Amino acid sequence: MATERNGADGMSTARRAWLRELGVERLWNLPGAVAPAVATGVEAEAPAAAPPSPVQEPVATAPAVELERAGPVALVQEIPVQEIPVPAAMPADPEQAWAALQDEVRDCMACGLCKGRTQTVFGTGSPKARWLLVGEAPGEQEDKQGAPFVGRSGKLLDSMLASIARSRQQDVFIANVIKCRPPGNRDPLPEEVARCSPYLMRQISLINPEMILVLGRFAAQTLLETDARIGSLRGKVHSLSVAGKKVPVVVSYHPAYLLRSPAEKIKAWQDLQLALSVGRAGN
Ligand code: URA
Repeated sequence: MATERNGADGMSTARRAWLRELGVERLWNLPGAVAPAVATGVEAEAPAAAPPSPVQEPVATAPAVELERAGPVALVQEIPVQEIPVPAAMPADPEQAWAALQDEVRDCMACGLCKGRTQTVFGTGSPKARWLLVGEAPGEQEDKQGAPFVGRSGKLLDSMLASIARSRQQDVFIANVIKCRPPGNRDPLPEEVARCSPYLMRQISLINPEMILVLGRFAAQTLLETDARIGSLRGKVHSLSVAGKKVPVVVSYHPAYLLRSPAEKIKAWQDLQLALSVGRAGN
């Protein structure tokens, strides 16, 4: 785990950076700033009545939430979800199985997305990581560079991880539900999800993470097999069963959505606290 350096007030550099990112460094209040418009292709995650606009719009002032003093969010509910089967054909040696999976994903032509891709995006981090982060699908930059979350939303994700003294290199594995870029960053089609999500299931079973943090509506609905809104999925501890072992799942907003709706970063902070408390409970 990355080390934290504390300043004179006891707050770590990483946490200060995230609070600055939140806009709550001083009084915990978000300023009524103007959010930058980001074309990401990630579906609106706000309530249906008020989807985030693709054009610049003022950000609502958030309630004064005392983030640090609020402490970790309680584990509200545990919802057993789907059983993840381990494929019979998988090599018994985990390293061989991982390498075989990487090869399979690299060469995959199971759906039409293979035609438009530069390369597949398998994921990044250590397969021995204790946390697995799951996003939706590669965007333009990810398709070019072959790694997940390398654009603006990836930078925010790195800041979020740093604020809780975790780094993508050491502490987490980051993967997407879909391994190839959908054209124009459109939502993946059901058939594409059906063809591609077994790769994620195999990644989950091989990593065997202590906790899965799901980023955004699409990934949450896919992994939890639900059409519930993201607002109702976050704040709870869901559960996947992987090879007979229960893995807690925490849902949060997609970083691209947070870039469009900075007022929601406070909720993302709470989600990280929940994820941390789940991780600790599993220790
Ligand atoms: N959005 C995602 O969901 N995944 C990525 O890898 C990049 C952007």
